Amino acid sequence: MSWVYIENLKKYINENVEIKGWLYNKRSSGKIHFLQIRDGTGFVQGVLEKSKVDEEIFENAKRLRLESSIIVQGKVREDPRAPSGVEIEVSNLKIVQVPIEDYPIGKKEHGIDFLMDHRHLWLRSKKQFHILRIRHEIVKAIREFYDSRGFVLIDTPIFTGAIGESAGNLFQVNYFDYGKAYLAQTGQLYLEAACMAFGKVYNFGPTFRAEKSKTRRHLTEFWMNEAEVAYYEHEDNMKLQEDLVSYVIQKTLEHAENHLKALDRDISKLEKIEPPFPRISYDDAVKLLQRKGFNIKWGDDIGGDEETAISQEFDKPVIVFNYPRHIKAFYMQPDPQRPEVVLCDDMLAPEGYGEIIGASQRIHDYDLLVERIKENNLPLESYDWYLDLRKFGSVPHSGFGMGLERVVAWICGLRHIREAIPFARTLYRLHP
Ligand code: 4AD
Ligand code: MG
Repeated sequence: MSWVYIENLKKYINENVEIKGWLYNKRSSGKIHFLQIRDGTGFVQGVLEKSKVDEEIFENAKRLRLESSIIVQGKVREDPRAPSGVEIEVSNLKIVQVPIEDYPIGKKEHGIDFLMDHRHLWLRSKKQFHILRIRHEIVKAIREFYDSRGFVLIDTPIFTGAIGESAGNLFQVNYFDYGKAYLAQTGQLYLEAACMAFGKVYNFGPTFRAEKSKTRRHLTEFWMNEAEVAYYEHEDNMKLQEDLVSYVIQKTLEHAENHLKALDRDISKLEKIEPPFPRISYDDAVKLLQRKGFNIKWGDDIGGDEETAISQEFDKPVIVFNYPRHIKAFYMQPDPQRPEVVLCDDMLAPEGYGEIIGASQRIHDYDLLVERIKENNLPLESYDWYLDLRKFGSVPHSGFGMGLERVVAWICGLRHIREAIPFARTLYRLHP
């Protein structure tokens, strides 16, 4: 009898198969056990009837606790009402382990802290199963997008000497004779070096920010995908972002529609996401916010609530471009026509999911970059190699970073980002 994964059961209608998994749930009457079985690829109901199996097998099934590991043999029956499309007529049941305690996650409602404390077990629950399967498809789509366009994957380091985005939220570690090292907030500066060597590059890895804010959008460790392209200017950059986000949505719909439906995600909202996206200048965004009653003036940063208010005006992601230079990072290219703003953009997801992309054209002029580093009181020496890139064949270049968990939260329709990553790290969480 062959071992078959639940996701493939439909190909085995009326055949006898073996499933290796765990007991997700159980309902019993005196004559019949309904076993909800999961195996990591899906969920299926096994029907164990007293009249059809050996007495001993039926009696054994009574001992099963939730999350018992079990190997089940039986015939696959078509069942159009079941989400998997099939059920199993169980003929044999082997018990690998009956849990030594009652499984702590039950049918009753648990608080979020309890669930996060039991994240190592909570991962087995249906909702988490669907979310992380969708995350997997999103990651695949991101890689596919770049690979199909001739980008080269460049893995950027996690230990860094120089700082990346801002001095404010760095994690420090001791690093031998060098004293302090920092965990990467971004791989951007390294990608800038790499794009001068490979033209079109991307990375995908964990980044770290010592965020003291406890919001539903912030993690201290999150995954970022960044892209950097030599000879790309602001407009090319925004176009690339639109294409990426649309591609990711379309591929996720194609490969994970069943999981999105299982989460009750309103898929019609995602189906609309295709280029072009609406664009609004920072200047107009401030006016829009003022009309909506926000106490904001030109020059102020746009916070989380403001982002939500802007995105509510649109049913696609909206690109807010050309922010004041003093609220953005030192490396951003000032607008030649208006040096008080920089050629940058933030992409805000619809439905209030906030900023999913931060982007800009980079300063390629040596003197201007030195001036901006000094203006920001950053140590020039740490940026020696970064400045070298402006000495040897410097060209305009642009890039961006997309926060994976924000994208997952948006696509899945999650209220909080903590469920968008297998093991979340936040101000108050390092365990499990
Ligand atoms: O806007 P950010 O800070 O941009 C950069 O780091 C640039 N160096 C990227 C680049 O141009 N190569 O971060 C990029 C994205 C944000 O738009 C957001 O989606 C996500 O990373 N992000 C976070 N996600 C979760 N938790 C946090 N604490 C995040 N901080 C940023
Ligand atoms: Mg940003």
